[in-house]
Amino acid sequence: MKIGILGGGQVGQALWNTIYAEKENILNILGEPLEIKKVLVRDLNKKRDIPRDFLTNNPDEIIYDKEISLVVEVMGGEEPAHTYIKKALEEQKFIVTANKEVIALHGDELYKIARKKGVDIAFEASVGGGIPLIKTIKEAMAVDKVKEIWAIVNGTTNYILTKMEEEHRDFEEVLKEAQKLGYAEPDPSKDILGLDTRFKLAILSSFAHHTTIKPNDIYTEGIEKISLRDIQYAKELGYKIKLLAISKFYNGEIEVRVHPTMISLSSPLSSVNGVYNAILLKAEKRGDVLLYGEGAGPYPTAMALLSDILEASHTILYSVPRYYSFAYLYPSKIKKSDE
Ligand code: NDP
Ligand code: HSE
Repeated sequence: MKIGILGGGQVGQALWNTIYAEKENILNILGEPLEIKKVLVRDLNKKRDIPRDFLTNNPDEIIYDKEISLVVEVMGGEEPAHTYIKKALEEQKFIVTANKEVIALHGDELYKIARKKGVDIAFEASVGGGIPLIKTIKEAMAVDKVKEIWAIVNGTTNYILTKMEEEHRDFEEVLKEAQKLGYAEPDPSKDILGLDTRFKLAILSSFAHHTTIKPNDIYTEGIEKISLRDIQYAKELGYKIKLLAISKFYNGEIEVRVHPTMISLSSPLSSVNGVYNAILLKAEKRGDVLLYGEGAGPYPTAMALLSDILEASHTILYSVPRYYSFAYLYPSKIKKSDE
């Protein structure tokens, strides 16, 4: 089972390392080794975890390689990522991507091509980092009616707001730290201006409400105007400032918005700090469902990508979805607990 990766940056390198670290487990799950054949980058000479022999700066070496049946896209940005994904789908390759911008702007078009070509496109890593969110909302919640979404879905801005509040630190200084930790977008203004959150909300609300929400339909404000003083005043009044993604669906109308919000300390979202994300879904039948976890960072994201890669690889290898069985990976003894 051979794959190609478009992008060898923060996430691409974490995925490379994770696939090598999990080699044995992957073999057990798939019954075949998973091999990374090539990784696309811009600069072949940059120092990175991926050996030079595996790098290319020519996308065609991945897109048109007949041995590669699955392409992982972790380049980021709309173009040329969108065009490369489209070409790879036309070549009947399965796609796994972490790119919320491409999915939010071109998901419908790409899905149509995938269906026509008998392949699939998976994007668990595009929203909520390591939180298994897309599968929950797309599959598990598919027959419920989600009436409201209240979510913190950007790790970088939540990290900045938390550090400003708890450590009284300067916006720019904390942003640099978030970039160093690999949380921020290749262009960090997408985080700060709320655009990354807007793409994510477009994806979430489209699946939750079974419709197509375009990013431009979403009223959006970022955190660029939030000062230390705003955060301190909010705190004195018993509130925290969080960048929220909100979607409400009542009487056939959808209200979608992204903006900094003062939230009361009694709300579960007020205790979501640092790089953590949380998504509160208010559904008609299930009631409230709350998902929480690390919302950014190369390694949690690599795990989300790997879960999609394993699902797709199983379908490619055996033409059926993967069946799960308990405990065949890690047979273990049961520890007797004291009475
Ligand atoms: P990076 O900027 O670290 O990596 C991008 C990689 O893509 C680099 O290796 C770069 O090459 C390569 N690349 C970009 N444009 C081109 C091009 N035109 N041709 C060839 N190669 C190109 O970004 P991240 O790894 O942080 O993010 C990647 C994706 O993952 C984005 O879509 C992001 O939104 C998403 N994501 C990121 C998360 C995170 O925590 N970082 C979490 C969830 C999703 P070079 O190295 O030579 O510059
Ligand atoms: N830049 C994004 C964030 C990466 O900070 O949430 C995860 O999608």
